[in-house]
Amino acid sequence: MSLTSYKTNYCGNIRENNIGETQMLSGWVANVRDLGGIIFVELRDRMGVFQAVADPQINPEVHKVFSKLKDEYVVRIQGKITKRPDDTYNPNLATGSVEMYPEKVEILNESQVLPFQLDDGDNVNEDVRLKYRYLDIRRKPVLDNLVLRHKVVSAIREFLNGENFLEVETPILVKATPEGARDYLVPSRVHPNKFYALPQSPQIFKQLLMVGGIERYYQIAKCFRDEDLRSDRQPEFTQVDLEMSFVEQEDVINLMENLIQKAFQAGGIEVNPPFERITYKEAMDRFGSDRPDTRFGLELFDVSDVMEKSSFAAFSDVIKNGGIAKALKIPNIASYSRKEMDDVRNLAISFGAKGLAWITYCEDGTIKSPILKYLSEEEISEIQNRANAQKGDIVFFIADEPKVAYDVFGRLRLHFGDKLNLIDKTKHNFLWVTDFPMFEYSKEDERWSSVHHPFTMPNPEDLNKMKVDKGACRSIAYDIVYNGVELGGGSVRIHSSQIQKEVFEALGLTNEQIQTKFGFMLDAFKYGTPPHAGIALGLDRLIAMMARTESIRDVIAFPKNSQAKCLMSDAPSFADEIQLRELRLQLKQVHTHH
Ligand code: AMO
Ligand code: AMP
Repeated sequence: MSLTSYKTNYCGNIRENNIGETQMLSGWVANVRDLGGIIFVELRDRMGVFQAVADPQINPEVHKVFSKLKDEYVVRIQGKITKRPDDTYNPNLATGSVEMYPEKVEILNESQVLPFQLDDGDNVNEDVRLKYRYLDIRRKPVLDNLVLRHKVVSAIREFLNGENFLEVETPILVKATPEGARDYLVPSRVHPNKFYALPQSPQIFKQLLMVGGIERYYQIAKCFRDEDLRSDRQPEFTQVDLEMSFVEQEDVINLMENLIQKAFQAGGIEVNPPFERITYKEAMDRFGSDRPDTRFGLELFDVSDVMEKSSFAAFSDVIKNGGIAKALKIPNIASYSRKEMDDVRNLAISFGAKGLAWITYCEDGTIKSPILKYLSEEEISEIQNRANAQKGDIVFFIADEPKVAYDVFGRLRLHFGDKLNLIDKTKHNFLWVTDFPMFEYSKEDERWSSVHHPFTMPNPEDLNKMKVDKGACRSIAYDIVYNGVELGGGSVRIHSSQIQKEVFEALGLTNEQIQTKFGFMLDAFKYGTPPHAGIALGLDRLIAMMARTESIRDVIAFPKNSQAKCLMSDAPSFADEIQLRELRLQLKQVHTHH
């Protein structure tokens, strides 16, 4: 039985039960060793490597061809599978007990010397690997990630198909779908001066599919966001995007927990729903983050009431002006030197703090602190009680507006968790964060924006706050967090055009803006929109976490680098004069063509 005209089997799949069979194999030369006449070649294909041997005594013709082979030549061999002699048996290789002395060999293609050694790939600069990504993909670690990705996506599809979901494609040339990032724009040739946007997500379309009666939709969807890149962000990325009709938050959460369990199983990891839940407010209060890593403790606590009454003006003034004082106890660091403490303070300041205060509980039972002089006996003992502080501990303090105090301690907590090795890396901690605020105020832009997106349902209890107390208005939005990483987020949607309009108004959109941007959606909502809700998982992040890699670039076949460039093709690149003319675009800056 032949696999194709070039191979009867995969190199990596030959086993002892194939011994005696004649097989035709094709692949790449992974390695050539000439041991004084006898030439050993490792032939590699997607399934693995297989050893072929040429002995001039046995087959001079084949040996002659073998002597020309170099790394990455493409070769076809044919011959009998034999058992390796004991002295060349390789227990680390699936094909380590078999080999072939080919009767025929053919060079299908040659290869230049590679720009980097594949087996040394982990030490090669990432820019070089990205420039020659097609070579990088020949390396097992990269291939393994793509295989994992395929398996997980297949499992997700299988699961959702079984739950009556329809996979529907939504357009890429769209009217802007707001998710809080900048849009990529595509100029229209047919309609001069007009632009399509690339979707930041299929959000609007999936909701319109619910109006269309699809009831259960999913898509492995490409999304595009022109935002500052980090190791867990790409300008184009993939979401497992889904939407359901006639459901509430609880239904989406239940479905998602099953989906995540199936997805992780496909990656060889057992996880056990139901997952823990925490409200946004509690997450911030305890961990200073809306995506807390709960694999370790170090929880924040509040000392606003103590500090407000204290004689420490730097603190009490902040609190009187609506700020808070938070504290974080770190055990076993009381012996930190002056310099180490300065480093911690500078770190806090680099995170945005105005200062960092502390109390050190020394091993000899004394306490030391730069703010001791401002605190009364009672205040000191109240703090010690609240912290349950022991000898060896240091308690840190920050007074600031809540956002800053939370954020700085949230990050300091992660810093110490990592530095003091408190994170149990064997854990798979899933956490639902619920009750996100509906709106947040940006001082920079001097306006309110959506925390999730403007189609998210406000908490019915807070509907009356939309006009008067936006900051206190909660939404029915939920995030799924895995080991401190935001894997996905979703919400119950607004299905009343009236409430939708009120939310747009709360966001400061004028009637005209609402009409031009979202008129079609508000219209659609007038024709019998079912209650609906959904969620999207970041597929790249999901796979990266399963593969235990820091960067989502490692699980994307052709990623962009941190400057949003494709180093392989050199995109983005300049456009032709002719193309620009057709699009009636005139560039401001003169540039040279490449
Ligand atoms: P959200 O904007 O929270 O929600 O995105 C969902 C998930 O997508 C992933 N993600 C990214 N991954 C890689 N690179 C990026 N630049 C990037 N941006 C986001 C994250 C995130 O949790 N339409 C809503 C979902 C919904 O309400 O149903 C949405 O897009 O893992
Ligand atoms: P001072 O007596 O003003 O020098 O302040 C004593 C300590 O309080 C110093 O360690 C400062 O870094 C710290 N500090 C001042 N303002 C703040 C603040 N808003 N939050 C946290 N620490 C502060």
